[in-house]
Amino acid sequence: MKKYVWLITLIAIGVLGTTVLADVANTKHNFTSSSASPGGFFYGTRQVCVFCHTPHNAGSVGPLTNHEMNLAESYAMYDSPTMDMPQAIGPHVGSLLCLSCHDGALAVNSLNNLPGPEGSGTYGTPGGSALDGSGKVSTTSDTYVGTDLSDDHPVGITYDASQDPDGFHSKTGSPSSYPDKLLSEGTYVECSSCHNPHDNTWSNFLVEDNSTSGLCVRCHTK
Ligand code: HEC
Ligand code: HEC
Ligand code: HEC
Ligand code: HEC
Repeated sequence: MKKYVWLITLIAIGVLGTTVLADVANTKHNFTSSSASPGGFFYGTRQVCVFCHTPHNAGSVGPLTNHEMNLAESYAMYDSPTMDMPQAIGPHVGSLLCLSCHDGALAVNSLNNLPGPEGSGTYGTPGGSALDGSGKVSTTSDTYVGTDLSDDHPVGITYDASQDPDGFHSKTGSPSSYPDKLLSEGTYVECSSCHNPHDNTWSNFLVEDNSTSGLCVRCHTK
């Protein structure tokens, strides 16, 4: 059912507008272009969305996911004595999609469904200093996150302000209001709480302006 909804959304975007396309195409997530993404691109490629989505033969996790997923990986999670909310042993889908490239374990061009009839495999030939020779995000790139998430903002968290009422805004129950608006699957703090992979308006693919830490205080009351 979930997948069906994603499919409808993808079709609607294809028919109704090019907003997403215009956004992604001008960002470092356009791996077809050495000018949009000089750090990481693939020679011989033309399809922008295909690195992450496919209309058919999608992976089992996420919105028509075309990127090979790193589901067996065990990630080291952030921990501290003042953490109060429930945390899963690993990231959920709103982080796994990002980590499938940014943990550096899988090639950026390793796809479930190549354009045309070929099935799974790799698409294009890597170029740019952020990628290693096999097309993985290089360990020396600024954008390499790795599998050790213990020094990163916590993810895999079930947002529950009642566990720490002095520190966090309560959920509103409305998906269009904060903090609910930022929660992945309406529930979790994941990479996609703070990042929108399609839109670089606020740099670093942030979901909104954080120049005065405005994003942080959507959830934190500090
Ligand atoms: C298909 C692989 C892939 C996926 C999926 C992916 N990224 Fe990226 N991302 C890259 C590559 C490659 C770069 C470019 C690295 C460079 O040019 O230095 C990049 C760049 C970035 C940057 C740097 C932007 C800048 O302006 O410097 C951020 C931030 C980022 N990604 C976050 C994310 C987040 C968060 C997600 C998930 C919501 C995600 N990415 C999903 C491969 C991916
Ligand atoms: C670098 C990877 C990447 C690229 C390239 C990319 N997407 Fe996405 N897309 C994602 C991720 C990750 C999510 C899930 C975000 C989340 O969990 O909030 C997503 C979600 C979506 C969704 C459903 C949720 C939403 O945000 O509306 C649609 C529709 C979508 N993408 C369309 C597209 C189209 C169309 C293109 C090409 C023009 C494209 N995407 C290119 C990574 C990408
Ligand atoms: C709580 C919000 C938040 C979460 C959750 C989060 N990020 Fe970020 N991320 C940021 C902010 C803010 C920046 C910009 C930092 C800066 O300007 O130094 C950033 C920067 C980045 C960069 C660019 C780093 C660089 O030095 O170029 C990458 C890549 C990135 N994030 C990936 C991820 C991934 C992958 C996840 C999930 C595992 C994630 N982020 C989770 C807020 C977040
Ligand atoms: C989507 C909601 C959300 C956003 C946005 C957000 N955070 Fe968080 N943050 C959390 C949650 C939830 C925790 C884990 C709290 C807990 O378990 O007590 C957390 C944990 C933290 C911690 C560790 C606290 C500890 O007890 O060890 C710090 C520090 C932090 N966030 C800073 C930031 C900063 C800085 C930003 C902005 C770049 C930010 N957060 C944005 C929800 C968010």
